[in-house]
Amino acid sequence: MNPNQALWEKGDFTRIAASMRQSGEEFANSLHVTPGMKVLDLGCGDGTTALPLAQLGADVTGIDIARNLVEAGNRRAGEAGLINLHFEEGDACELLGVADASFDLTLSVFGAMFAPQPFDVAREMVRITRPGGRIVMGNWIPGDPTFVAQVLKISSAFTPPPPDGFVSPMTWGVRSHVVERFGQAGVPEDRIATVEDTFVFRAPKHSPAEVIALFRQFYGPSMIAFEAAEASGRADELHGQLIELAEAQNTSRNGGTTLPATFLRATVSL
Ligand SMILES: C[S@@+](CC[C@H](N)C(=O)[O-])C[C@H]1O[C@@H](n2cnc3c(N)ncnc32)[C@H](O)[C@@H]1O
Repeated sequence: MNPNQALWEKGDFTRIAASMRQSGEEFANSLHVTPGMKVLDLGCGDGTTALPLAQLGADVTGIDIARNLVEAGNRRAGEAGLINLHFEEGDACELLGVADASFDLTLSVFGAMFAPQPFDVAREMVRITRPGGRIVMGNWIPGDPTFVAQVLKISSAFTPPPPDGFVSPMTWGVRSHVVERFGQAGVPEDRIATVEDTFVFRAPKHSPAEVIALFRQFYGPSMIAFEAAEASGRADELHGQLIELAEAQNTSRNGGTTLPATFLRATVSL
C-alpha cells in the first residue's frame, strides 16, 4: 500500500478536525468564492474547508488519499444537505481522471504539502486549474515556534529517519521552495504571493493534555512517533514534551484549549 495513504488512514483525522471548524470557515470566507465557482479542495480531510465553501455556493470537489476521510466527508455533505459537494479518493501527486483546466480555484490547506513528490504536486495543481484561475495553499512552516510546526518537529525527533530521497513536507512552508516548484510547473515568480497567517485550533471542552491525547490516538504523524518512542522506551518523554508545548501555547482562559498556529499562505494566480 502507498505509505502516504497508510499514514493518513492509520489515524482518524476527523477527531483532530473537530477543533479546526471555525478557522476552516474563516479560511473559506477569505477566499471570496462566488456561487457556481468550481473549487477543488485537495487533501481535504473530512471537509473542514470544503464544506463551508459549498455552503457559500461553490461547486466543490474534495480529493483526499485517505478513504476513511473521503467517506466521512461524503457523510458530512449528506447530513448538511449539500448536493454541490462531493468527495473522492485521489493522490495529489497524480490526479488520475481529473481533466486539465477543470477548476477556477484549487485549494489545499495543510493537505497536498504531505504528498511525497512536491514537484509533481505543483505540476498537477497547475494542470487542473484553468488559466486565469487561482491556487491557494496553506503550509506549515519549518522551525516556526507555534503549535503544529512544533508538534511535527518534536514528533520527527522520535521517529526513525526517513528513507533516502525523502523531502520534508515542511519545505512547502518556505517561499523559495514554493517558487521553485511552481516555477518548474511554468508559473513565473511574480504570480506567486506568500504571506504568514494564523490558523486556530479550538477545543473548548478539552484540556491541553486531552488535546495531546487526541493527537496521540488519532493524528497519523504523532501516532507513528509514539509507536517508535514506545519501542525505544521514550514514550513518556515524547508525551511530556508535547504536553509542555500545548500548555505553553494555550491561550484559552476558560479551562479549554485554544492553540494558534502560524502557516504560510501561498496564492498562485494563473
Ligand atoms: C493535516 S490533514 C488536513 C485535512 C484538511 N485539509 C483540513 O484542513 O482539515 C492532511 C490531509 O492530507 C491528506 N493527504 C496526505 N497526502 C495526500 C496525497 N498524496 N494526496 C491527497 N491527500 C493527501 C491526508 O489524508 C489528510 O486528510
